[in-house]
Amino acid sequence: MPKENQATHQQAQVVKQGTGSNLCESILLAANFLDQVREGSSLTEALANAPSENRSAAQSLSFEALRYKPKTTEALKLFLSKAIDPEVEDLLLIAISTLFSDSMNQYPAHTLVNETVKAAQKSIRTRHAKGLINAVLRRIIENPNALLIDVENAQYPSWWVKNLKKSYPQNFKPILETYLKPAKMFLRVNARRGTLEGYLKRLQQDNIEILEIPLEWQKQAPYAIALKNSTPVNKLPGFMDGDVSIQDLGAQMAAQLLEPKNSDVILDACAAPGGKACHLLEAADIQLDVLEISPERMKRVEENLKRLQLKANLILGDACNSSTWSQGKKYDAILADVPCSATGIIRRHPDILYLRRGSDIPELQELQRKMVSELWQLLKPGGKMLYVTCSILPQEGENQCVWFLNNLKDVLRLDCAGQLLPNDWHDGFFYGILQKKK
Ligand SMILES: C[S@@+](CC[C@H](N)C(=O)[O-])C[C@H]1O[C@@H](n2cnc3c(N)ncnc32)[C@H](O)[C@@H]1O
Repeated sequence: MPKENQATHQQAQVVKQGTGSNLCESILLAANFLDQVREGSSLTEALANAPSENRSAAQSLSFEALRYKPKTTEALKLFLSKAIDPEVEDLLLIAISTLFSDSMNQYPAHTLVNETVKAAQKSIRTRHAKGLINAVLRRIIENPNALLIDVENAQYPSWWVKNLKKSYPQNFKPILETYLKPAKMFLRVNARRGTLEGYLKRLQQDNIEILEIPLEWQKQAPYAIALKNSTPVNKLPGFMDGDVSIQDLGAQMAAQLLEPKNSDVILDACAAPGGKACHLLEAADIQLDVLEISPERMKRVEENLKRLQLKANLILGDACNSSTWSQGKKYDAILADVPCSATGIIRRHPDILYLRRGSDIPELQELQRKMVSELWQLLKPGGKMLYVTCSILPQEGENQCVWFLNNLKDVLRLDCAGQLLPNDWHDGFFYGILQKKK
């Protein structure tokens, strides 16, 4: 399973395992993860390089700390009279988010305070502040209302709130509130190996509870199942045999929108880890070329294809430079799930807000235009390109479609989902369909 999915979906389970001295070590490791994010690494990278001991619990603690950071940072101002070292702040962020998050409040408050103070004592960079940590945590426990901060007053990176307020002046607050909640875990049943009904029965037999997906979404993602609680993949029946995959509900719309038909020749131009590529292969007997620039990430596509028992032609190459790999081939359909700000999936990757800079957005916009312009030449007349981002910024979605209509040759825009904002069900995505005139 892709590491980033493991990171988010299993968090509710793993945190329950950490107790006592384990908890102290998990807090220390989580603080180390936050330190690495501050230095510019992603949580996924930090996790990949971490020792396996306490990793799962530390992962949950660090995810939750970053998710709540905007509120916690603001709340801390009430309890601190002067600036504190970032390493001390990290310990406070971890402890406070664990105390107040619905999915994490497994620990008695006094245990959490004691273990956080113990963790502070173990590091030379935080030892001096253990008294302060103890006092602040105790005062916050006595004054839980301090955490009731309106998202508008929370401490978000300024590029993010500015952009969000400008893009969504009416509904930026619900978007920010949505990002404070953990995302649901969704499955995609492999249509080649079974039916939705059949898999639902298997879940029932294993006492794995599901949530009823609203009808409008069932139609757009007919193989999706929402789990009531996040569940480790080794507990999912037939996961290792390829009967099912983990994929967000919104992401499951891609294959439905591209409508692959038997014998279509299709290119997935930005393929790793392969969620949408595998879905396309499950949906019809297509010839699929899978392009990816990163050899490391291509390994993840290979693993997914192997587990799901699917076949595709793997090409390591740059979508912006097709002459090096395309050999003049033309496609009936192209999936362009382009690199983007990933601002639609902040719930699953809360580090995104702290790794991105405002200046990344115009750079990404430029890259997306370059990529789509290059790929457009590989589309057959009458062929369709599905342009996808997991962004909620109009600069990467609607504005790009306008640019494509003005700049690509022989282009039509077909009716399509457009901007999906994150909600209680799915993550944020943009979908646009472009067709080449015959
Ligand atoms: C949004 S992810 C794709 C997710 C994938 N479609 C899925 O559903 O699992 C974008 C991918 O594009 C790859 N990528 C970035 N620049 C690229 C380029 N110039 N050519 C090909 N792939 C690229 C990234 O390494 C990344 O794996």
